[in-house]
Amino acid sequence: MNSMQKDLSEILISRETIERRVHELGAQIAHDYAGQTPILVCILKGGMMFLADLMRAIAEPVEIDFMAISSYGSSMESSGVVRILMDLESNIEGRHVLIVEDIIDTGHTLSYIIENLSTRRPASLHICTLLDKPDRREVDISLDYVGFNIPNKFVIGYGLDYAEKYRNLPFVAVLKPEVYLQPSP
Ligand code: PRP
Repeated sequence: MNSMQKDLSEILISRETIERRVHELGAQIAHDYAGQTPILVCILKGGMMFLADLMRAIAEPVEIDFMAISSYGSSMESSGVVRILMDLESNIEGRHVLIVEDIIDTGHTLSYIIENLSTRRPASLHICTLLDKPDRREVDISLDYVGFNIPNKFVIGYGLDYAEKYRNLPFVAVLKPEVYLQPSP
């Protein structure tokens, strides 16, 4: 067992299951955007592993770009107050934009991003998320592509972190509560 695995209570979505679903999503996106060369906008840092796999599953031309957002709340809770740490390089006016996220929780981060990107007048703006936690939603958002609906558990891996760790796990797992409940040193 490696030193990260002892911190996990269960593997929620295996590597093989993720791979299969990412291929289905890629095929659907390739079909829906055929001839449009969408810009896939990855929200850092969590979305990067999903983007890397998803773009290889889309057998049509795409462009990619990145945005980094910071929440002012604690690391465990989204406060709804967000700011842009790193903005897109591309001009998205008149372009088809697909936001690529790892997880939608309260929806505050995404709601801010949608509002912000909408003002730049893209031809279309849609959302693709690997994980959705609908029980936690505080803002009503319509999601266009969802990999998996998951229960309200603390998940890490496949890009998702706790205190910047565990992003490199190739599956989505549930963190043992004692790991995130222990007092900081
Ligand atoms: C996560 C995730 C979303 C956001 C979702 O990012 O990637 O951007 O939280 O939460 P919300 O729906 O409650 O707003 P995080 O702030 O953990 O940053 P990271 O991707 O760099 O880990």
